[in-house]
Amino acid sequence: MHIEEHKSLKDYNTFNIQATARYFSSIGSIEDLKLALQSNIHPDIFILGGGSNMLLTKNIEALVLHINLKGIKIISEDRNSVVLNVMAGENWHEFVQYCIKNDYGGVENLSLIPGNVGTAPIQNIGAYGAELKDVFLDCNTLSIADQSEKKFTKEECKFAYRNSIFKHQKKGKYIITNVTFKLTKNNHRTIIEYGSIKQELENSNIHHPSIKDISEVIIKIRESKLPNPNEIGNSGSFFKNPTINNIEFEKFYKNFPTAPFYKLSEFEYKIPAGWLIEKSGFKGQRDGDAGVHKNQALVLVNHGNASGKEILELAEKIQTKVKQDFGILIEPEVNIV
Ligand code: EPU
Repeated sequence: MHIEEHKSLKDYNTFNIQATARYFSSIGSIEDLKLALQSNIHPDIFILGGGSNMLLTKNIEALVLHINLKGIKIISEDRNSVVLNVMAGENWHEFVQYCIKNDYGGVENLSLIPGNVGTAPIQNIGAYGAELKDVFLDCNTLSIADQSEKKFTKEECKFAYRNSIFKHQKKGKYIITNVTFKLTKNNHRTIIEYGSIKQELENSNIHHPSIKDISEVIIKIRESKLPNPNEIGNSGSFFKNPTINNIEFEKFYKNFPTAPFYKLSEFEYKIPAGWLIEKSGFKGQRDGDAGVHKNQALVLVNHGNASGKEILELAEKIQTKVKQDFGILIEPEVNIV
């Protein structure tokens, strides 16, 4: 186990924020992970995955463990499906590409989502009508307190929209070391109804899309709307799409009849935060190096040297204005550290 001190985390968070870790260790094996947790280097432990869903607003006074566990294993397979176990440090999109290459269906709509496999269940990543929970079987974890191993089944994870037990009751208590997925080998259940996927496929004259076609179209759509973190620091959607009840919705709809919305049930409606933020006038705006992306107002960006505090200040300004204009509270999806 190699420990570094005052390590810069700039290359370890997709927002590209400069902050340091008091102690830092990149963890490549379960043995090293146990050793690190048993060490008395620092009383506090901070778990770092792909760094794609956090905003660093200060230096981290803790032992930062960068989870770099690698490997993909086939656990079982039959004619129709395959069960894969994937280590937490595998890059999510590389895993998706591995599935496409082997014609394993179920994650193609989740193409190009930044981050790692081990952090994907924490917020139940989702895009274009698919969510991680649709292919998730279980995950193995290590308890930070006593290093015991515990498996969490899908039910135990309590998945919901951008949410799981690891964001609530079990927050900061377990480290996900690997995840088991069940994917299809034929008769893939393709989802193409969402947004412009169908249109894009038709434009390319594709009538019976393979999972590879779907992945390619989604990559194209994402690249046209979402900034590439390698080019401009960002964490994907900064806010969650808010849910309002039917009474609030009626009032909202009367005032803003052109607003897009998704009806979740008779009593609940989801409003795209990107639309609210755009209508509040923030799309493409910037305060110094902290900005709102020009093509997707839900995404906050670091134009170069913004600090985490500056991004947070911009986020709070947006929250206040959206609340003022629409009476709706939008909440961050990103973890503020
Ligand atoms: N919209 C605007 N202005 C904007 C952005 C969006 O008016 O600046 C409108 C669009 O025109 C559309 C609606 O809002 O009518 C929804 O937009 P979009 O389909 O782009 O999706 P979203 O609700 O903004 C969600 C996810 C994304 C995911 C897409 C596609 C959340 C918080 N975000 O965005 O996830 O890629 O759907 O499934 O649920 C992420 O989590 O990092 C992420 C990018």
